[in-house]
Amino acid sequence: MFKDTVLAKEWLPVAYSQDLGADPLAVKVLEERVVLFRVRGAIKAFKDLCIHRGAALSLGKVKDDCIVCPYHGWEYNVDGQCKKIPQQPPNRAIPLKAKAIVYQCREVYGMIWVRLSEQGSDAAEPLPYYEEYNHPSFKTVHAYAHTMNAAAPRVVENFLDVSHLAFVHEGSLGHPDYTEIPDYKVNWRDNHYVSDEIEVYADADGTGNWSTIYYTFEILRPTVARLKKVNYQTNEIFSMLFAVLPQEQLKSTVFALVSRNYELDKPDEYFQEFQQLIIEQDTGIVESQKPEELPLDLQAELHLNPDRVSIAYRKWLGELGVEFGSDVGRKAKTI
Ligand code: FES
Ligand code: CO
Repeated sequence: MFKDTVLAKEWLPVAYSQDLGADPLAVKVLEERVVLFRVRGAIKAFKDLCIHRGAALSLGKVKDDCIVCPYHGWEYNVDGQCKKIPQQPPNRAIPLKAKAIVYQCREVYGMIWVRLSEQGSDAAEPLPYYEEYNHPSFKTVHAYAHTMNAAAPRVVENFLDVSHLAFVHEGSLGHPDYTEIPDYKVNWRDNHYVSDEIEVYADADGTGNWSTIYYTFEILRPTVARLKKVNYQTNEIFSMLFAVLPQEQLKSTVFALVSRNYELDKPDEYFQEFQQLIIEQDTGIVESQKPEELPLDLQAELHLNPDRVSIAYRKWLGELGVEFGSDVGRKAKTI
């Protein structure tokens, strides 16, 4: 099991539903190889390892409601029990140890979520709530999955950072003449941190409509956050759920839902491509950050008022005991 026992208990996004077809799909979660596959409409997640000789089950196929190992054809049912060993006569008992390791798996918001703790272990936190997905006034698209060579907490913190818009996203989200961020607070509400509405002069969605917009950030889980941008003059709302899969210590994949309550007929690709442009602008910066892990020691790095959301994020990760991505053992220089 991965050393970070806190994140291993989290629901982590691993793929979009549309990316899992009839063949098994290999993903990596907290350095663990995981195979996803569909059986009768349900999605299953197993450790991507056959107990016989360690071959990757993801190279196999699904047949008769079982996943079949590509190497010697052992067949595992949805509970991970080996039901067939083709090399044995059918009347010989299958060893009880012939099992696959089954992980918890859910399909919500058109995304597949996995929890590495084995089935039957501690109760899971509920999946993050994102009301726009099923709300009749909103249309939601799935952003393109995007991988960065960076620790997941650095990637999440960049999403929570309002100060960089006028610089990294100059002309696309932020305006170079409006760099000042008004004072705001971050509040603990319903078991998570929520920022006040932060007034920003911005272009919410890259359409060239510059206006005063109110940003609200919510830190939902250690690698899941959301953002709501409201234009009170037009009542247009642009929302995002931003969910990061820590594949490895310094490799993370972003899955995001992008919702709007306006321009519902505009092609989905417009919003997917806009989000792709934004995240590509972020990638070089986030990959450049040192230390690579997010310093959870609040004495490390220098914090200003506009950084209150990221301060709350660092504080909460520290309280939860998340080690993955932190600088535990090698603190950044204290200022
Ligand atoms: Fe899977 Fe032999 S390694 S059946
Ligand atoms: Co950015």
